[in-house]
Parts: sequence; structure tokens; C-alpha cells
Amino acid sequence: MVSAVVLRVTQDSDLPELTGGDSEFDDWGPREPRRTIARSDTAGPGGLTIADAASGEVLGSVSWHWVHWGPNPESSNPMIGIWLKRTARGHGVGAIAQRLLVDKLFTETETNRVEAHTDVANLAEQRALERAGFTREGMIRGAQWRRGSWHDDYLYSILRPEWRQQTNPSATTAR
Ligand SMILES: CC(C)(COP(=O)(O)OP(=O)(O)OC[C@H]1O[C@@H](n2cnc3c(N)ncnc32)[C@H](O)[C@@H]1OP(=O)(O)O)[C@@H](O)C(=O)NCCC(=O)NCCS
Repeated sequence: MVSAVVLRVTQDSDLPELTGGDSEFDDWGPREPRRTIARSDTAGPGGLTIADAASGEVLGSVSWHWVHWGPNPESSNPMIGIWLKRTARGHGVGAIAQRLLVDKLFTETETNRVEAHTDVANLAEQRALERAGFTREGMIRGAQWRRGSWHDDYLYSILRPEWRQQTNPSATTAR
């Protein structure tokens, strides 16, 4: 039972647990075990461990990388991703962890926009993103090659003014 959720810098001891690849939506084929710790600063691509605030148990990880909609810095924004251990799914952790990451990105950078995308069939992630304050913008067609076929995704975003207006940022309690 998860009580509250935190994002923290990944430690060497987390790496064996951050396997990924056990969901149809995160199945990118055979992969090497993770050996390196992602950067936690927001200047470039990075990642953090999602942990149970009370026990410290590793629940999964979040990541981000910067995408470019134009050549100037103002037209770049972070695109986020998430993976939860099987045992951590189904308790609302996905929405909380992604909201915590949105808070971090808007607090630590000047970005106007944070993005995410997910498979049109990944209903849990769609709902988790909406609970985290994201709006669905449309479909990106044939964007992902997984399990021998191309997949359509939905693109989501949250803009800085929306983030500011939302009155309940970072409730960290899972259900
Ligand atoms: C996707 C993921 C992050 C979602 O996080 P989660 O905490 O497990 O999400 P939950 O199971 O609590 O579900 C979130 C919401 O979706 C709903 N939901 C879940 N599965 C659903 C389904 N099949 N149909 C409709 N709604 C569904 C839940 O009822 C919940 O709704 P609520 O917030 O209104 O109560 C997590 O399951 C995960 O890591 N999956 C594997 C990797 C992955 O898919 N990563 C994302 C790739 S883009």
C-alpha cells in the first residue's frame, strides 16, 4: 500500500529494479540492464526514481528530454515519460509522479510547455496524464515502432498558465 510518493535522485541500488519493458506500451525489444544513473538537473535529458515516501521502496521512474519546435530556446520544451513497477500500478501513482515532475520542470526551467505522449490504447496513462493536468492535443500517427508494428499515439501538454491556475498542485497521496 503506497501512502505518499516522492521523486528522488536515482541511486546505484535502484538500477536493478528499474527494468522497464514488462508492459506492451514499454516493450522496445531486448535491452541491456541499466548501468548508468540519469542526470537529475533539468538542463538536458534526465530522470528520477519514483519512491514510496514512507518506506523508500522504488516504485518506478520518470524521465524527460527536450524537444524543439523552433530554433530558439523559447521554442523548446521537455517531453516526459514514466514507467511503474507492476506492483505499483493501479493506485494512482502515475498521476502523482507525473504531476510532481511537471511541478519540477515549471519551477526549475522557464519552459512554457511540458509534453507527453502515449499509445492510443494506453487508457491508464491517458487518464493519469489528465489527472496530472495535461490536455490531449491530437493524434501523432505511426509514431512508435513496437512489437512488429507502427503505433499511433496521443500528444498531451500542459502550459505554464494552466499549471499556475490549477489549484491543487502536487497532492502526493496515492489511493
Ligand atoms: C501507465 C501508468 C504510468 C499509469 O499509472 P497508474 O498509477 O498505474 O495508473 P492507474 O492504474 O492508477 O490508472 C489511472 C486511471 O486510469 C484508469 N484506468 C486504468 N486502466 C484503465 C482501462 N483499461 N480503461 C479505462 N480506464 C483505466 C484508472 O481507473 C484510473 O482512473 P482514475 O484516476 O479516474 O481513478 C502505469 O500503469 C505504468 O507504468 N504502466 C506501464 C508503462 C507505461 O505504460 N508507461 C507509459 C508509457 S507512455
